[in-house]
Amino acid sequence: MFLDKSKNEFKNDVLLGLSDPIQKSIPSKYLYDAVGSELFERITVQPEYYLTRTEIKILDIHANELIKDIPKEIILIELGSGSSKKTKFLFTEIMKKQNQLYYFPIDISFDFLNSVVTNLQKSFSNVIVKGIPDDYINGINHCNNILFENNVEIKSVCRLIIFLGSSIGNFEIGDARNFLKDIRLQIKNGDYLLIGFDLEKDVPLLESAYNDNEGVTSMFNLNLLNRINKELGGNFSIDNFSHHSFYNKDKKRIEMHILSNKKQQVFISSLNKQFYFEKNEAIHTENSYKYSLDDIEGIIKRAGFSMEKEFSDENNWYKLALLKPK
Ligand code: AVJ
Repeated sequence: MFLDKSKNEFKNDVLLGLSDPIQKSIPSKYLYDAVGSELFERITVQPEYYLTRTEIKILDIHANELIKDIPKEIILIELGSGSSKKTKFLFTEIMKKQNQLYYFPIDISFDFLNSVVTNLQKSFSNVIVKGIPDDYINGINHCNNILFENNVEIKSVCRLIIFLGSSIGNFEIGDARNFLKDIRLQIKNGDYLLIGFDLEKDVPLLESAYNDNEGVTSMFNLNLLNRINKELGGNFSIDNFSHHSFYNKDKKRIEMHILSNKKQQVFISSLNKQFYFEKNEAIHTENSYKYSLDDIEGIIKRAGFSMEKEFSDENNWYKLALLKPK
């Protein structure tokens, strides 16, 4: 039932997005089917993609400082957990102060989540892993219910919600603020939120991170068309489309698009509809906002949080912010 619901959602979003006469677009969350999630993992180890490497380094160096002043038993909730690779740095640190850990990875890529959970459970025997295949806010709610069913008293534990990888950059600025407000409503004093923000930097650095030499980002982007072909019966010829990403200075974001190489039409059978593309017409597939320190301050305050601790790398390319409810 779950899968049918999400399939229908995909169908509706593709219909809506490809029918827009001004600017075709598809929400970026659909980039992450099982293949897309694997491709994203490959992006994170590309030499140009500094984000993951930088964040891991910050986590590795500062995990102790991050965790050490949290007095209560930590319950770890990860939004958009993906491979959970970075989370292991926190596991090690948290296990120094407690002998058992509940870890809730929340991710919309169901198949990927399943295999990650199985592996984690094997390698960390004291970590109780409960994968939540859902979107973020529903997922947090779901965690709260599971804790309740397991007689874990919310007020005697600290929920540490982590949102890494600069995934917050996918949201429009107003939506990011509302998203943090929604999280604020789900947690109490004594809980924490750890967020990774990618910072503004020289444009060539930004642009090459989203145009890696090996072409993995291109495959990741174009896989969206494969997904439509597979799941919705589309007949996109992938060769007739190209990956395009660039920094939009006015909006302070990387934009990712799929360009039509020629005038063409595509049929999607589950929608029973033909879509027309002009030469160079774009499908907008993702935004990745880059933040200034002032942007971060502003968004945090207005969402009802205050900065507890913050960590950066030596180049000031990336910021990890530990927030607490104000
Ligand atoms: C997972 C959303 C943080 O925006 O950098 C990487 C996704 N897109 N390369 C990002 C992505 C193209 C990534 N996030």
